[in-house]
Amino acid sequence: MNPMTTAATPSPHVDTPASWSPGSWRGLPAAQQPDWPDTGALESALQVLAGQPPLVFAGEARALREHLALASRGEAFLLQGGDCAETFAAFSADAIRDKLKVLLQMAIVLTYGAQMPIVKVGRIAGQFAKPRSSDTETVDRVTLPAYRGDAVNGLDFASEARVPDPDRLIRVYNQSAATLNLLRAFTRGGFADLEKVHVWNQEFVAASPQGQRYSALAEEITRALRFLTACGVDVANDPTFHTVDFWTSHEALLLGYEEALTRQDSLTGEWFDCSAHMLWVGERTRDPDGAHVRFLSGVQNPVGVKLGPSANVDEVVALAQRLNPERVPGKLTLITRMGVGQVADRLPSLVRDVADLGIPVVWSCDPMHGNTFTSNGGYKTRRFTDILDELRVFFAVHAQEGTTPGGVHFELTGEDVTECLGGAHEIADLDLSTRYETACDPRLNNGQALELAFQMAEMLRA
Ligand code: PEP
Ligand code: CO
Repeated sequence: MNPMTTAATPSPHVDTPASWSPGSWRGLPAAQQPDWPDTGALESALQVLAGQPPLVFAGEARALREHLALASRGEAFLLQGGDCAETFAAFSADAIRDKLKVLLQMAIVLTYGAQMPIVKVGRIAGQFAKPRSSDTETVDRVTLPAYRGDAVNGLDFASEARVPDPDRLIRVYNQSAATLNLLRAFTRGGFADLEKVHVWNQEFVAASPQGQRYSALAEEITRALRFLTACGVDVANDPTFHTVDFWTSHEALLLGYEEALTRQDSLTGEWFDCSAHMLWVGERTRDPDGAHVRFLSGVQNPVGVKLGPSANVDEVVALAQRLNPERVPGKLTLITRMGVGQVADRLPSLVRDVADLGIPVVWSCDPMHGNTFTSNGGYKTRRFTDILDELRVFFAVHAQEGTTPGGVHFELTGEDVTECLGGAHEIADLDLSTRYETACDPRLNNGQALELAFQMAEMLRA
């Protein structure tokens, strides 16, 4: 059996209501949509996209849903992560490789800590559109439309750059296709070799100022691999130790783009949004009666919903009713992002009420989006300790309520950026400017992401 994947149960067929079509979100209130200056140009771009091949296949999205069904029951654990916003400028084979590499390294540590398969989902190959708290941005008394992600406009603080340009949607599709192509090659072609990924982890432990703390667990993994070899398992050559399943996800924000890539599965007649395996709806667009939820209610991909501190059980019931009326396990992931200050107050009753109603969900924790603030130097940042503490409370609440902590959701990168404060290398306020490269929210860097995996492994064992 592949240690990085797991056998899944057959997937139920789910009928989409006859009243739904990929375009039936049109006419409903759609939050966070760009003000496209030329709607004719937008519709032409969407028509081009509608004629392109799907980026992912229905069967793959269905398989992910089955793996998430295991996560909903505590038989697997979801690791979802990647950039806050992918960009055209930061597109390179090395950056994609390094992002995959850090996720694979985290996954091995978590596999060992949780003693269960890790479902690996990237915020990648499509994460190009951003909801914004404000429609405008003001710098030195100049006010311009906000940056909404490379799918919409440019990050440069210049009025031309901030005009929404629908040709960007085609570039998003093309970059996503190239990214997926590389991911498929890396995950099948030997890059994901279990022993190699473990060696990278040993190198991380050796170089980390917190090395002693993590070396015991790394050593246990080494011994587990030696044990397999001693039992006659050919860890070095058995193909199951060389390949991994890796899925893609992004926020389904630009509904025209998502609609254009939605296709009917020729085998089953079910609709799938073929822009990614998993889609989620954000904290700002999760209105149960809004356009985003309407769109996602008809596709059979697994979907996520971000839940901030204001979320209540009635909203969750309404969302579950629309997004998973047949209560298919694995279909709906609730991604809580309460913030360290509110999680202990908000999470327990929500978890309890949803459990009492018997609604099957994967509970995932996004410890990033409730913990963002602006540093003294003016950089948007997050504290490593806040992220860790929200995770700790997430696990404690589920233990206390007898529910299943099913996964985690991070903004991270494989590079040594300085965007989040703290970690073993103690990034301080004054260090943020050294390598602050994100186009939107601050990401964990390579070392911070791995440290988090080691500390989560300790939590999962406990
Ligand atoms: C995000 O995931 O980048 C995001 C904007 O999250 P949220 O909707 O939870 O604020
Ligand atoms: Co973000």
